[in-house]
Amino acid sequence: MTGESNERILVALDIGTSKVAAVIAAVREDGLEILGLGTHPSRGLKKGVVVNIESTAQAISAAVDEAQQMAGCRIHSAWVGIAGSHIYGLNSKGVVGIHGSEVSASDIERVLDSARAVPLPSNQRVLHTLEQDYLLDNQSGVRQPLGMCGVRLEARVHVVTCAMNAAQNIEKCVELCGIAVDGIVLEPLASAFAVLTEDEKELGVCLVDIGGGTSDIAIFSEGAIRHTAVIPIAGNQVTHDIAMMLRTPTADAEAIKIRYGCALSKMTRAEQIIKVPSVGDRPPRELSRQTLAEAIEPRYEELFAQIREELRRSGYEELLPGGVVLTGGTAKMEGAVELAEEVFQIPVRLGSPYGISGLLDVVQDPIYASSVGLLQYGRGRLAGDFDRAPLADPLPIDGFKSPSANTWLARLKRWIWDNL
Ligand SMILES: Nc1ncnc2c1ncn2[C@@H]1O[C@H](COP(=O)(O)OP(=O)(O)OP(=O)(O)O)[C@@H](O)[C@H]1O
Ligand SMILES: [Mg+2]
Repeated sequence: MTGESNERILVALDIGTSKVAAVIAAVREDGLEILGLGTHPSRGLKKGVVVNIESTAQAISAAVDEAQQMAGCRIHSAWVGIAGSHIYGLNSKGVVGIHGSEVSASDIERVLDSARAVPLPSNQRVLHTLEQDYLLDNQSGVRQPLGMCGVRLEARVHVVTCAMNAAQNIEKCVELCGIAVDGIVLEPLASAFAVLTEDEKELGVCLVDIGGGTSDIAIFSEGAIRHTAVIPIAGNQVTHDIAMMLRTPTADAEAIKIRYGCALSKMTRAEQIIKVPSVGDRPPRELSRQTLAEAIEPRYEELFAQIREELRRSGYEELLPGGVVLTGGTAKMEGAVELAEEVFQIPVRLGSPYGISGLLDVVQDPIYASSVGLLQYGRGRLAGDFDRAPLADPLPIDGFKSPSANTWLARLKRWIWDNL
């Protein structure tokens, strides 16, 4: 898509459980410049999955309108994130004989086709086939086999699958707003593009994007993705715990959590007193910040314990010299990094999007990790620059209409939506 001055424009739509974020960026020679950001509270999702098409479409439309106004341009298509417990990741292999004496692009396509041919339940479909490395005859650890000589090519990949209807519902919501889908991207993969360094991915690192509805995990080692998982515990449960313990409305619990919350009670002092609104006409009460932290800590501990279990199951627990990187809104709570270090016993840091310019105050926030990562993923796909984006699926996502085929339809829907 191009803007007024013929510059290339990219758009990210992060349809999260707490908020929908639309981010518009211009592709510059030296990177991405963020031109516009729009956010709107999300009401139509539960644990990362669309449960109400109309309210989700309304939230998308509001976020897009705000971003368009800020950027001063109109958008027609977007890269869209997907998450939820319906996502599965598995490692797979494919083997082909090479046609000719050296590896061609079509040999690589054939070997990736063979690697992604995994038996799937009828309601699941392949979302990504992410290259790990290749084995060419006896040579292992080949990152880019194109042009190399050999007779037998083996590919190792990480295949990500998702529920067909979950992806279709996301596409439906976006198209209802008159926007074509450039591609649907696994959210933790997108977040990894935004917050992880190449060194961390090379060494071995675990990314955890802790949002409102789900905590999404992606493990990298030797520069490639090795394991993905989704844990259905995140910020909404923390808010719910506070609302229950304090018997205060959810909106107040959310505000108290963000303003005074701490995930490690020993970092707070009993003398720090906060005011808590009560339900109904009862007067507000006073509460020590330490008591609040004691209500928050068990939920973060439970989440980190489940992540540690997932690390064990993946077989990568001992192979993460790059440590754990937390991102997403729920990772911003004071004490979360410190508590995570106690549970994982490896270094943990808070990851914010980097490698972008424009509106930095706004988008250099862990809440926008997925949005910025979607833009970086899109840029890598457009440029065919797989050095910057070595993990991107180089093949079209099966079953999705290409943006060019449905852009006019999307624009028509947008016009109808705007003029309702
Ligand atoms: N400073 C903060 N401290 C603690 N929690 C916070 C803070 N800021 C935001 N949150 C929490 O982060 C969550 C929202 O994070 P985020 O925007 O990453 O989620 P999302 O992308 O909408 O959801 P999901 O990825 O699960 O679908 C909410 O639960 C919110 O309460
Ligand atoms: Mg999210």
